[in-house]
Amino acid sequence: MDRMEAIQAANLFAWGTNAMDIRRIVASDTVMLRNAVLPPGLPPDRSIYPGDDARDTLHLGVFLDTTLVAVATLCREPLPDNNITTSWRLRGMAALPECRGRGFGRQLVERCLRYAVDQEGTLVWCTSRISTVPFYRALGFREYGDAFSLPQYSDALYVHMQHPLP
Ligand SMILES: CC(C)(COP(=O)(O)OP(=O)(O)OC[C@H]1O[C@@H](n2cnc3c(N)ncnc32)[C@H](O)[C@@H]1OP(=O)(O)O)[C@@H](O)C(=O)NCCC(=O)NCCS
Repeated sequence: MDRMEAIQAANLFAWGTNAMDIRRIVASDTVMLRNAVLPPGLPPDRSIYPGDDARDTLHLGVFLDTTLVAVATLCREPLPDNNITTSWRLRGMAALPECRGRGFGRQLVERCLRYAVDQEGTLVWCTSRISTVPFYRALGFREYGDAFSLPQYSDALYVHMQHPLP
């Protein structure tokens, strides 16, 4: 399914009467949505991350009926400025535009936080564009360090955000 087909399929779900399911998926299932959303137009190999195939990496997908409409990935990885091995990195958060604002992102993040706790993690962190800081703040993350750029991805400014675990 290409991006347009995915968006057209998602339009079928606009009124929210479909069965929703969140389940574990494999790394290759995430690529189409990552590629379409994060940010669109990058070469496909930019949508494959180190750690995607690690045994303890978690990939989750939200399905409306049989259509994958949102994804998230959690992998064991320290923040760039430390080597705390109980840190987990949340990345590849992507929801089809037509399916945003319906709580799917929140449910994915909450499931990832629970998984990190189950793995005896002490911290979940992510790299957020400045524009998505309010989303992560709503889920309990806080900014960590100064803003920086990632020109290989986009012209946006980014910041690390972290969420300590109990
Ligand atoms: C970021 C993204 C995954 C959020 O998914 P979503 O399903 O729309 O988010 P939710 O509906 O679960 O929102 C969760 C909470 O964040 C808040 N939120 C979401 N987007 C927000 C925004 N742009 N500004 C402020 N708050 C926002 C919601 O109000 C909600 O808060 P509440 O539960 O307290 O009411 C989705 O917008 C997306 O795919 N964006 C493009 C890709 C992207 O930017 N990914 C992050 C890369 S850094």
